[in-house]
Amino acid sequence: MSSFNGKTVIITGGAMGLGLAAAKVLAQKGANLAIVDYNEEALNKAKADISSLAHQAKILTIVADVSSEEAVKNYVDKTVAEFGTIDGFYNNAGIEGKQAPIISYDIEVFKKVIDINLLGVYYGLRYVIPVMQKNGGGRIVNVASVGGIRGVVNQMPYVASKHAVSGMTKNAAIEYGKDNIFTNAIAPGAILTPMVAEAFKQVNPADPKAAEAEYAQRNPTRRLGQPEEVGHLVAFLLSDECNYVNGQTIAIDGGESNLYGNS
Ligand SMILES: NC(=O)c1ccc[n+]([C@@H]2O[C@H](COP(=O)([O-])OP(=O)(O)OC[C@H]3O[C@@H](n4cnc5c(N)ncnc54)[C@H](O)[C@@H]3O)[C@@H](O)[C@H]2O)c1
Repeated sequence: MSSFNGKTVIITGGAMGLGLAAAKVLAQKGANLAIVDYNEEALNKAKADISSLAHQAKILTIVADVSSEEAVKNYVDKTVAEFGTIDGFYNNAGIEGKQAPIISYDIEVFKKVIDINLLGVYYGLRYVIPVMQKNGGGRIVNVASVGGIRGVVNQMPYVASKHAVSGMTKNAAIEYGKDNIFTNAIAPGAILTPMVAEAFKQVNPADPKAAEAEYAQRNPTRRLGQPEEVGHLVAFLLSDECNYVNGQTIAIDGGESNLYGNS
């Protein structure tokens, strides 16, 4: 099992869901964590939760909105000031936006999804990569989605932004592989986090649990994923054991994105 002793990892969107689950896995493996989120209350609760699991963990929390370039530069600077460098970057913060058909999608929501999911990921790469170059290398995991490899009905801006994440991952991989910086993306399917719970409320406001059960039936595994399952994949991709994997978008979806027709 890989150790992260003495390693520093930044996690954006780390107060809840996939970010928090990975933070717990990494803290238990000895990483120093800089956890970034724009929800201060959830961030404080996350720090307490992680500390109760991993008493020794050094955790820096930073309130920041990843769609602000200045805020991104600031969270990178603060992390370097606290821990000296950055070894791993989990570029995870993202939103779904409201579900609606293409021809009536709210343009302001569209722009917000792009600002957070696309530009937020780009700003992170822009400011973290120079630190990793000085450090002699590093590992980056961007968060795409199955919506970054397939279309998803009523989620055009989300799908556009996540395809962009997959594309930016390829570019970072080919531009900075020479610096021993390996950049990959993950493409989760439906993983039970607050974001997905909210999506099921949009699909069936009267009975979100029914929407969840129906969705799970389509998956080859007949269930949704758990955030910890994604956390373990992320920990591997950020570890020293993950070498020579670069520019890939790795689905973690129970195999669902391979499905054509009825399961
Ligand atoms: N859960 C899934 O099934 C699933 C599937 C595919 C992709 N994803 C992606 O995984 C990532 C995490 O999703 P999740 O399900 O954990 O969502 P979530 O809503 O449960 O948690 C996201 C966290 O990010 C934070 N955040 C959102 N926008 C932010 C911003 N602009 N600045 C700083 N923090 C911000 C939120 O406050 C929250 O703590 C997202 O990029 C999402 O698109 C999730």
